[in-house]
Amino acid sequence: MDSSEFEFAPVEGAWGALDLVVADALAAEGWCVTDQLLDPLLITELYEEVLGRDDLMAAKVGRHHQQRAQDDVRRDKTGWLQGESPAQARYIERMESLRMLMNRRLFLGLQEYEAHFARFDSGDFYRTHVDALKGQRNRMVTCVTYLNPHWRPEWGGQLVLYDGQGAELTRVQPKGGVSVLFLSEEFPHQVLPARTSRYSIAGWFRVR
Ligand code: OGA
Ligand code: MN
Repeated sequence: MDSSEFEFAPVEGAWGALDLVVADALAAEGWCVTDQLLDPLLITELYEEVLGRDDLMAAKVGRHHQQRAQDDVRRDKTGWLQGESPAQARYIERMESLRMLMNRRLFLGLQEYEAHFARFDSGDFYRTHVDALKGQRNRMVTCVTYLNPHWRPEWGGQLVLYDGQGAELTRVQPKGGVSVLFLSEEFPHQVLPARTSRYSIAGWFRVR
């Protein structure tokens, strides 16, 4: 796969080539979509790894003892990505450098990054939600990266991002190499039902 396959019609909002642009877009707009965050070769390797993972489990919603599978809310299957392979280690290293840059530019005091692989099979969705409750100061910045080498609009599975008033900001096709970043407390979002297996990495920059 070469980088020319990672061309996208720009959508509204901030698209950027460099981490600085990403950090500044987050500071200015609170969200950003880019296809420049990760090396296309790394995306391919991570895609091959997630295809081989047979341990992805129905995701849970709620915290601690209230955790339960809630298939009316979300149907994705997830498994933690902890740096076990060279590709995962490179991915984590990359996100670490972004974390430090965001701390310098945005003064967020982000202390760690956690991420999981996710698969939405045909019919799977994730209803509108926020990734962190306001004031909880736990998950601060969300970063979702898509892994499928190709995606057709008719396959559904778009990420729809809303502002705090519920107005749609953008709709992102989950094509490999595209990353979406947003402030976790500020932007409700949903994943529309997919029509084919949709692979991604969802991660969160956190404070403890
Ligand atoms: C999530 C999520 C969005 C996506 O995992 O919390 O909202 O596009 N994922 O996969
Ligand atoms: Mn989410």
